[in-house]
Amino acid sequence: KSGEELYVTFVDKEGDEHKIAVSKGNNLLEIAQAHDIEMEGKSSTSYKGLDEMLTRISGACEGSCSCSTCHVIVEDESMYDKMEEASDDENDMLDLAFGLTETSRLGCQVVMSKELDGLRVRLPSMTRNMQASDFSKKN
Ligand code: FES
Repeated sequence: KSGEELYVTFVDKEGDEHKIAVSKGNNLLEIAQAHDIEMEGKSSTSYKGLDEMLTRISGACEGSCSCSTCHVIVEDESMYDKMEEASDDENDMLDLAFGLTETSRLGCQVVMSKELDGLRVRLPSMTRNMQASDFSKKN
């Protein structure tokens, strides 16, 4: 049946909420891209020319689970628990993401379903410097 709408809310880096009606089967990266929600790609770093075009809406690897630019943080733990478990590939990429949390996922791997109606996700607001220090701690 068409017309069955699900809702997902993105909370962006400024704390602004974007509530979006989506269809079952859409993944969070597609949804963010379609609604011009900035994920990790642009942030405060300025990209030039083609680079800017390529990274503006992020999802740098086009959803193939080999970057972490689509990192989102699920606000509600019970929602997180309803999601399909992350694959090993996803977990590996998440390990490299800025501001990793217990309820972090890669947006491109989270597919909307009826169970996830009302989902709220935050976009991480860590800076790149933060990532560098996280990384050196690990090694
Ligand atoms: Fe690269 Fe999701 S877009 S892992």
